[in-house]
Amino acid sequence: MFLRPPKQPDFKREATMSNKQSGSIFEFIEKNSLLLGVSIFVLITIGGIVEVVPSFTQNARPITGLKPYSALELAGRQIYIRESCNACHSQLIRPFKAETDRYGAYSLSGEYAYDRPFLWGSRRTGPDLHRVGNYRTTDWHEAHFKNARQVSPGSNMPNFPWFFEDSVDVGTVHAELVTVRDVFGVPYDQGENPKSGNTLEETHQLIIDEAAMVIEQMKDQSIKDAYAQGDVKDIVAIIAYLNRMK
Ligand code: HEC
Repeated sequence: MFLRPPKQPDFKREATMSNKQSGSIFEFIEKNSLLLGVSIFVLITIGGIVEVVPSFTQNARPITGLKPYSALELAGRQIYIRESCNACHSQLIRPFKAETDRYGAYSLSGEYAYDRPFLWGSRRTGPDLHRVGNYRTTDWHEAHFKNARQVSPGSNMPNFPWFFEDSVDVGTVHAELVTVRDVFGVPYDQGENPKSGNTLEETHQLIIDEAAMVIEQMKDQSIKDAYAQGDVKDIVAIIAYLNRMK
């Protein structure tokens, strides 16, 4: 005795029936592979945008207590970019124990809200600098930029003797300050936030006022002498920037 095979459903008949009920739009899309591909892409894109955009707009907001860069810090940041420090240093502490033990709390996206452009970097020939302000001091930086090998034997970081000769480029600082304030709405002059200058002279004065605190802790007499003449050197700005990185 053998079993009778189970009755096969009549696919053809069922398909025709459902087509009649739901119209032929799905059948049309399914038979047109390009259209199907494009439709899938469009749907996934919409889904992706809905998922991603809210978290981006939330995380891009400054974390509480974050202040915009002061005029002197901005000058230091421009020097950092000019000298391509980001070719050897990152500014992004990843959430791994080995990193947080060494550098401190891992970085949050809201900490970069005023960074234009961001300087995360992708290479670490030297260490990460995102919180270097917590463990290096003004006079350490001063000696290090003069000759890295003196404070850090075997270092391959270049010396930057011109930081002690060139003066802060006030014009570029003023231009950036006014641009980010007026175009991107960076909240200068509000509450405890740093001040912005309306004229080149005002920005220059802000830089001079701020520089006093850094120069007080420096050793090089030529920097102090230049300052007495109202001349702020690049070294002061780059140190102010690094001290802020906390
Ligand atoms: C050729 C690669 C290279 C470049 C370019 C470079 N650095 Fe470094 N940097 C290093 C290395 C390597 C170290 C680690 C050894 C040392 O302390 O000198 C270091 C260390 C440092 C440290 C000490 C960090 C710590 O945690 O001890 C600071 C601060 C620093 N660099 C800032 C800068 C700045 C600012 C610039 C740009 C003006 C710069 N570096 C450019 C390679 C570089």
